[in-house]
Amino acid sequence: MSIEVLYTKEQIQTKVDELGKKITQDYKNILEADEELIVLCVLRGAFIFCADLIRATNIPLKLDFITLSSYENNQHSKGVVEIKCTLRENVTKRHVLIVEDIIDSGITMDFLKKHLQTLSPKSVRLASFLSKPTCAKITHKIDYLCFEVANDFVIGYGLDDAGLYRQLPYLGKQIK
Ligand code: IMP
Ligand code: MG
Repeated sequence: MSIEVLYTKEQIQTKVDELGKKITQDYKNILEADEELIVLCVLRGAFIFCADLIRATNIPLKLDFITLSSYENNQHSKGVVEIKCTLRENVTKRHVLIVEDIIDSGITMDFLKKHLQTLSPKSVRLASFLSKPTCAKITHKIDYLCFEVANDFVIGYGLDDAGLYRQLPYLGKQIK
């Protein structure tokens, strides 16, 4: 199997830095003096994007994680999302920025937003590394997006195929 590069490490870094600046500008206006942003990284796919994104920002923030699962080693969503490990920070009356790797069918994000609403946050915004708009069953407003991709299964920069390829520094697609 070979891999076609869709976005290089440099192209990704440029875009992530841009988003980090935008997030900084926006939240400097939103956060009050004694507030910090809660960045909620959706494991496992978003861990690299999130690590780079928060280092491109300059605002007070706390990092938290949630582990969601819907794929179970399959390239297509089962449509059933489970929480495998939940957040530790209290998000009630706090500003939350969800950081996700990819919005594909949108089912995972729909589940997460509904779950968060039960915790009464002050605001919820969404940063996603990728979006596959042609696959959307449920559409979401993505406040901070790096790239749109076509209907291909993509790997690298945190995204996996059955657990593999997350460490690739670029985004690629498999060519069989
Ligand atoms: P959704 O519920 O269909 O939007 O899927 C969301 C999750 O599926 C993402 O958080 C990813 O972890 C995973 N996913 C969707 N498409 C891809 C892909 O092309 N490559 C790797 N993971 C993907
Ligand atoms: Mg994911």
